[in-house]
Amino acid sequence: MRYILLLFCLFTIIACGNDETTTEADLYADNGSNDQRFQKGKVLFSTNCRICHAQDKHEATGMAPVLENINENWPDKTILAKYIANAPAMMSETPHTRELYQEWKGRAQMPAFAGLSKDDIDCIIAYISQ
Ligand code: HEC
Repeated sequence: MRYILLLFCLFTIIACGNDETTTEADLYADNGSNDQRFQKGKVLFSTNCRICHAQDKHEATGMAPVLENINENWPDKTILAKYIANAPAMMSETPHTRELYQEWKGRAQMPAFAGLSKDDIDCIIAYISQ
């Protein structure tokens, strides 16, 4: 029993000690500067997207559209985030997605990215829309 009590105390001390560092780390993660978010987006883009969209977002591969005029084509970033998460489900969502689908039909199709979190996608958008 004494052992359990000791463990509990230890745990409390560790938990309290961690509290400060966690808060700091959370702050860092949530309020990362725009540059950090851009860099995170760049890394995520290179691991998930560049196989089709090229290493440089402006480079053509023939496998997928060059990512340019993102801000013009996607004025609503919520729709863009949904599109990146699940492009096949968004094919007829807007005139632009319909147009993309028609243009790329039979050549390639963007897959869904269930493994990317909302924050991951927001960072990718920060990267591709700059
Ligand atoms: C398997 C190839 C492939 C991969 C991987 C891929 N895409 Fe795509 N992407 C496409 C194709 C093809 C289209 C054109 C629409 C369609 O037919 O699906 C497209 C369209 C897009 C568009 C719209 C472009 C425009 O002109 O408005 C964006 C934005 C986009 N992709 C972002 C991404 C992001 C971000 C990733 C990584 C998370 C990604 N894509 C991964 C193939 C891919």
